[in-house]
Amino acid sequence: MPLQQDGSILNVTNVDIYYGTFQAVNNVSFDVKAGEIFGLLGPNGAGKTSTLSAVEGLIKPQSGNIVVAGYDIKEKSLYAKASMGVQLQANSFQSELNVAEIIQLFAGLYNVKLSDEKLKNILTDIKLEDSESKKFGQLSGGQQQRVSLALATIHHPKLLLLDEPTTGLDPQSRRQLWERMESMREQGHGILLTTHSMEEAEAVCDRIAIIDHGKIIAVNTPQSLIDLHRTDPKVIAASRKGRITLEDVFIGLTGREVRS
Ligand SMILES: Nc1ncnc2c1ncn2[C@@H]1O[C@H](COP(=O)(O)OP(=O)(O)O)[C@@H](O)[C@H]1O
Ligand SMILES: [Mg+2]
Repeated sequence: MPLQQDGSILNVTNVDIYYGTFQAVNNVSFDVKAGEIFGLLGPNGAGKTSTLSAVEGLIKPQSGNIVVAGYDIKEKSLYAKASMGVQLQANSFQSELNVAEIIQLFAGLYNVKLSDEKLKNILTDIKLEDSESKKFGQLSGGQQQRVSLALATIHHPKLLLLDEPTTGLDPQSRRQLWERMESMREQGHGILLTTHSMEEAEAVCDRIAIIDHGKIIAVNTPQSLIDLHRTDPKVIAASRKGRITLEDVFIGLTGREVRS
């Protein structure tokens, strides 16, 4: 599988997305490298899901280029899609299927051979070894989340896309998911996740892009973002405890106004 020369597994370049006349994503560019966890951080309505949907090939940007694992999403969409694993923001598998059936279904869709042993391994890995015949709809939020992550990675994709993966999870489940992401990073996967949690961005992201009103306003490591903006008066004004946090930078750059 071709990697870009700079080691990037995803290149997003000058992407514009409109819904009718409304521009949701405005000239967005960023790269995600293999072995990197990259966070798209922004308030509600910033354009995070729209950007991810364009990478996933679910919506067509009006302009710009998206290249996944060296494959242009317009010209080589099958190869590009085969290189990525996707976990959507709202999980809506058929709630009547049981866990084993859903895993088998996805293995079939991705053309992955699934022996009984491999299925057992997956179930053990997501700590659902005793729940294979439980219906998806009966699982807890954390359990559903673990199933959907297993499905998104069943074909060992180079790029993993996670839309607000920890929203609604309890602290234990959230920690566990962070650890899973980190172990995938060690294996060389590139991970692009969206979040509005500063804690999450600081805890797991190697680099983040802050996006607001469809525009990327900063890209850097969490620590560099703090260092670069610590003297910005708006950031200082947002600070609450005498030291500058990533959240202060975020509020300083995106404003205090609450988004719907
Ligand atoms: N299908 C759609 N039709 C019209 N507007 C949309 C649609 N999807 C999203 N939007 C609008 O585009 C903007 C960005 O939405 P979205 O990408 O979902 O943001 P985020 O994921 O950051 O919360 C929002 O103003 C949202 O209301
Ligand atoms: Mg969203």
